[in-house]
Amino acid sequence: MKAIELRNKYLKFFEEKNHKIISGAPLIPENDPTVLFTTAGMQPLVPYLTGQTHPEGKRLVDYQKCLRTDDIDEVGDNRHLTFFEMLGNWSLGDYFRQDSIRYSYEFLTKELNIPSDSISVTCFAGDNVAPKDEEAARIWEECGILKENIYFLGKEHNWWGPAGETGPCGPDTEIFLDTGAPKCSDHCDPSCDCGKYVEIWNNVFMEYNKKEDGTYEKLSQKNVDTGMGIERMIFLLQGKNNVFETELFMPIINKVKEMSKLPNDASLRIIADHLRASALLVCDGVVPSNLGQGYILRRLIRRCIRHLRKVDFDVENIEVIIDTLIDSLKEMYPELEKNRENVIYQIKKEKNRFMNTLVKGEKEFYKIINNLKEKNVDIIDGKTLFRLYDTFGFPPEVTAELAKENNFKVDMDGYKLCFEEHQEKSRQGAAGVFKGGLADHSEQTTKYHTATHLLLESLQRILGPHVMQKGSNITAERMRFDFTNPEKVQKDVLQKVEDMVNEQIDKGLVVTCEEMQLEEARQKGAKGVFDSKYGQRVKVYTIGDFSKEICGGPHVDNTSKLNHIKIIKEEAVSSGVRRIKAVFVEN
Ligand code: SER
Repeated sequence: MKAIELRNKYLKFFEEKNHKIISGAPLIPENDPTVLFTTAGMQPLVPYLTGQTHPEGKRLVDYQKCLRTDDIDEVGDNRHLTFFEMLGNWSLGDYFRQDSIRYSYEFLTKELNIPSDSISVTCFAGDNVAPKDEEAARIWEECGILKENIYFLGKEHNWWGPAGETGPCGPDTEIFLDTGAPKCSDHCDPSCDCGKYVEIWNNVFMEYNKKEDGTYEKLSQKNVDTGMGIERMIFLLQGKNNVFETELFMPIINKVKEMSKLPNDASLRIIADHLRASALLVCDGVVPSNLGQGYILRRLIRRCIRHLRKVDFDVENIEVIIDTLIDSLKEMYPELEKNRENVIYQIKKEKNRFMNTLVKGEKEFYKIINNLKEKNVDIIDGKTLFRLYDTFGFPPEVTAELAKENNFKVDMDGYKLCFEEHQEKSRQGAAGVFKGGLADHSEQTTKYHTATHLLLESLQRILGPHVMQKGSNITAERMRFDFTNPEKVQKDVLQKVEDMVNEQIDKGLVVTCEEMQLEEARQKGAKGVFDSKYGQRVKVYTIGDFSKEICGGPHVDNTSKLNHIKIIKEEAVSSGVRRIKAVFVEN
C-alpha cells in the first residue's frame, strides 16, 4: 500500500465513523509566536481541545504536515526524520477510551489486515495525577490484543503533552508493531529502541490541562487526540526495513546515488529528508534567513549541500534532484507542483550563498583543527564557532558535524554566549523560540489579532485587491503581517493605511462571529482561503461593515477595545512579499 492510499483509507474510515474531514494547518503556526513549527496534529486544535466549539463538530479527522527539529542531527540513521506526516482523529468532548481504542483496533486489523498478535500496546502505569490505566488495558484485551502484549509504563513513556510548557495533555496508549526481530534482551519491551517494536500510533486521553505552576487541572471536556506517523506505518505495511526504502524517499535517493561518485547511506538519507523538508517549508512561505523558521530552513539546505558534496555530487545539478523530489511527491503534496519554481529558486539561491563561502570556510576549518591538534586540544571553542558562522556562513551545527567527523568536540554553550552578545536581534532565535510552547491567547494577542483583520482590509482598500495575506505573527508586544505587493509601500501610503485602521478603532465597530458553509462564506464576500478541499464549515468574523474574514478567532467583541496602531516598519520578506510591523500606542 502506498502512503497516499493509507492516507485516503484513514480519512474514509473515520469519515464513516461520523468524523468530519478537515484540512491540516500549514507548517508555520498562524498567530502563534511561541512555536516555530507545527509539530503535531493536535497543535492547531488546541483552542478546541480547551473548550471552544469547532465549526465542524466534535469528531474530526485529518492529515497534518509536521516538522520536528529536536532530532535534526540524528537524521541519517534509519529512523529519524525532520518532516513527517501525521494522520489523526479527534474527539472533542465526544467519545473517549472505549471507542478510540476500538476504532484503532478495527482500522489496524480489518482495514490494514494486520494480525492482532503482532500488535503490542502500552498503557499508563499511574502516578499522583492520574490512576493506572486499567480501563485502556481491559478494552485492548476485549478487542483481542494478547494479554502478554499489553504493557504498563510510566509517565516518561505513556503521558503525552503538553506540546509547550502549558496546555492540554493526558495519559496515552501507544500502539506498536512487532517487526519480528528477536528481543535484544530479556527486558526488551516496546519502550526499548532496539528496533524490534516500532511505534505506529498514539492515542492520548486528553482530560488534563497543565498550568504554569506545574500543577494539573481537569479540562472542561474529555478529548481524544491520536497521531499515526504515515512514513513508519507504510514501511511496515510494505515489508521494508525502514522509511527510506519507501516510495516517499526512494526516487530521490536513487537519483542522487546515480549522480554521485561516493554515495553512503547516511548522507543519502540526510539529503532526502532535508530536501523534502526544505521544499515543503518553502511551499508554506519560509525563506532562508538568520532567524527563526528561516534559520532552520537555512540549516537544512546547507547541511544537505554539505552532504551532496560529501558523496561527490556536483551541486550545480541540484535542480535535477529537486525536480525528482517534486515529481515523486506532488501527488501527496500538490503544493510542491504549484510552487515548483519558487522551491527551485529559493534552494538554489541559498546553495549559491553557501557555496560562495563554503570552500573558504572548509579551508578555515581545517586550518583551525590542525592548529588545535598541534596544541593537543580536541575542542573548538565558542568564539571560533561563532566566527565560522559569522564570517563563513557555517551554521554551528554544520561545524559540529564536520568536527565530529574529524574527532573534535565543539563548545556549543560558548557559541550561544557569543551569538547572544554579538547579535542583539538574534537573541530571540537562540534562546526563546526553540523552547516551544502553545498559542498565547492572552488579551493583548487577541487585540493584535483583531487589528490584523483591520490592517488587511485597509491595505486592500488602499493598495488594491492584489494584496493577499501571506502570514501573520503576533506576540503580546507587537504584530507582524506579511502580504503580497510588488514594491515598497511609500511612507505617505502607510500613513493612510494606519489612519484607516485607527478610524475603525475609533468607530467602536462590533465584532461578530458566525459559523457557516465555506461556500456561503465565499458568497458573502468573506476573505480567506477557498481552495481547501475539506473543512466545509467555517467561522466568519465580521467587523462592523468594514471587514469579513474566515478565521478561527479569538477576537475582541468591539474595536473600541483596541488602542491605536502605529506602523513601525515596512520591509521586504522575499520578492513580491512585504512585511509590516505595528504596535499599539496610546490613543
Ligand atoms: N499528540 C500526540 C502525538 O504527537 C498524538 O497525536 O503523538
